[in-house]
Amino acid sequence: MTLYLRILKYIQPYKYTLVMALVCTVFAAAGNLYIPWIIKDMVDQVLADKNEGMLNLIAFGIIAIFAARGLFFFGQNYLMSYVGQHVVIDIRGEVFKKLQRLPMSFYDKNKTGTIMSYVTNDVSALQAAMVENTIELVTEGFILLGSICAMVYLDWKLTLFTFCTFPIVLWFMRFFGKKIRRSGGEIQEATADITSVLQETISSARVIKSFVREGYEVSRFEKENMTNFNANMRNAKYMATLTPCIEFVAAIGVTLILWYGGHNVISGYITAGSLIAFLVYAVNISNPIKRLTRSMGNIQKALAAGQRVFDVLDLPEEIEELPNAQILPQVNGNVEFKAVTFGYNAESPILKNINFSINPGQVVALVGPSGAGKSTIASLLPRFYDVNQGEINIDGINVRDVTLDSLREQVGIVPQETMLFNGTVYDNILYGRLDATKEELEEAAKAANAHDFIIGLADGYMTMLGDRGVNLSGGQRQRIAIARAILKNPRILILDEATSALDTESERVVQDALDRLMVGRTSFVIAHRLSTIKQADRILVLENGSVVEDGTHDQLLAAEGLYANLYQIQYRSSETK
Ligand SMILES: Nc1ncnc2c1ncn2[C@@H]1O[C@H](COP(=O)(O)OP(=O)(O)OP(=O)(O)O)[C@@H](O)[C@H]1O
Ligand SMILES: [Mg+2]
Repeated sequence: MTLYLRILKYIQPYKYTLVMALVCTVFAAAGNLYIPWIIKDMVDQVLADKNEGMLNLIAFGIIAIFAARGLFFFGQNYLMSYVGQHVVIDIRGEVFKKLQRLPMSFYDKNKTGTIMSYVTNDVSALQAAMVENTIELVTEGFILLGSICAMVYLDWKLTLFTFCTFPIVLWFMRFFGKKIRRSGGEIQEATADITSVLQETISSARVIKSFVREGYEVSRFEKENMTNFNANMRNAKYMATLTPCIEFVAAIGVTLILWYGGHNVISGYITAGSLIAFLVYAVNISNPIKRLTRSMGNIQKALAAGQRVFDVLDLPEEIEELPNAQILPQVNGNVEFKAVTFGYNAESPILKNINFSINPGQVVALVGPSGAGKSTIASLLPRFYDVNQGEINIDGINVRDVTLDSLREQVGIVPQETMLFNGTVYDNILYGRLDATKEELEEAAKAANAHDFIIGLADGYMTMLGDRGVNLSGGQRQRIAIARAILKNPRILILDEATSALDTESERVVQDALDRLMVGRTSFVIAHRLSTIKQADRILVLENGSVVEDGTHDQLLAAEGLYANLYQIQYRSSETK
């Protein structure tokens, strides 16, 4: 019920259009209701009384009714679609907006395909329920009601007789309605799973091929496909059982009418025309009942989808901003971690009691074995996640006290995995700062050592990247990501393995650019290749989520700890090469 009300809230802005649509629906349905009345006049007045004037009137009437009904039919469908489509774009827009605000942890937990299914399938299912099924519900509801009135008017005792079958029909509808709703939910879920497998295999085509796992993927897909089939078949089974059951009960009703009504005509209580009209109403009444059950089933299915859509809309927003969050002023770049403990699940901390304070403009290197928590530290700074304990301060201001936008504006990241959008090279770099001029953008590309390869591409800066464009090498992608960060010009810069995919030569050039970029900014450099961080003002060595060493390159070498060890290994292996 609350679900209905919630959907109603979206319809609210279009209520006048909806009312007009409903008026059209009622008039279109009224056309149907009038037909048996014509038959009654035909039988009683034309066939029995040989009234020729009535015959002409009937002929004219039928044409007029159908013309008017056509117009109303158009109005009903057009206006209903108008309302339905509007509500859908409103909801879909809202879901998309919501997705932009959901925290990273939502994306860690949900599969891409499932999320996509919310926005596409589920919202569309909701629309179908609202347009087609609401039209049907109103039309058939009105026809049902009108038919009943006409029947009562014609012969109320006969009507009572007919409706003895009604409770049985209702029971069937209730019983199957529940089952249909449940299987409707299963279908949507199974469809979401299919989309998800599909999405995964498409995006990992290279991995699948290299491991020769096509057969494995096919069987995985077949499993989901079968689950979907079974869910659909369960639903179909209920639908298919429901209809004949109801029709059988209806047939019993018709028999009763023929038997009892026939007696009434014989005894002269009603005319033959009235009985025929009554019969037409009664037979036709099974249609609206049938369609009502069907559209009610569809609406149930859609409500399950609607529930999922609203579940997404109700998820807690992005890491909550405090109600009185201030705007982080232009920072100098002092960064302080105070007793920070963090885990993606609160139970298993990844970072344990991290403490450090970085002076503005310092270059800090984070090193340590894979999985030590380096990237995790990097994602806490722009507050992709909230710490479980402790606090992170920038210029003495807790990152929790400021608005996310103002914080993230001042933190630039070149991530470990570069993501480029479908679009031109130009647009991809411009993403760093949307109001940058062409000159500034090329300047940034040059600084990132990307300009030369970009102008070598077929269309230069206007070359399309992604699905419908060229693919770049890993190193080229990194350089575009660096250009993007340079253009953004943040006070605090995080380079997570930013040059790991470059050859030594380009790395040296990009490193030069980065060295220039890092001047005057607080920079975090994460690198496995220790040669690139020798110059850092400070090196933090992480192991198992704790800072185990802290100092400059020379100090740490002298300390002969983990860093010295790692460095020796790399140094030796590069010498033997
Ligand atoms: N989104 C996530 N959800 C849950 N756990 C995660 C997530 N990202 C990382 N982890 C876990 O956190 C730990 C630290 O990961 P992190 O990415 O910070 O390591 P890293 O030091 O950057 O390693 P690498 O050098 O390989 O990039 C790992 O054990 C990893 O399994
Ligand atoms: Mg990492």
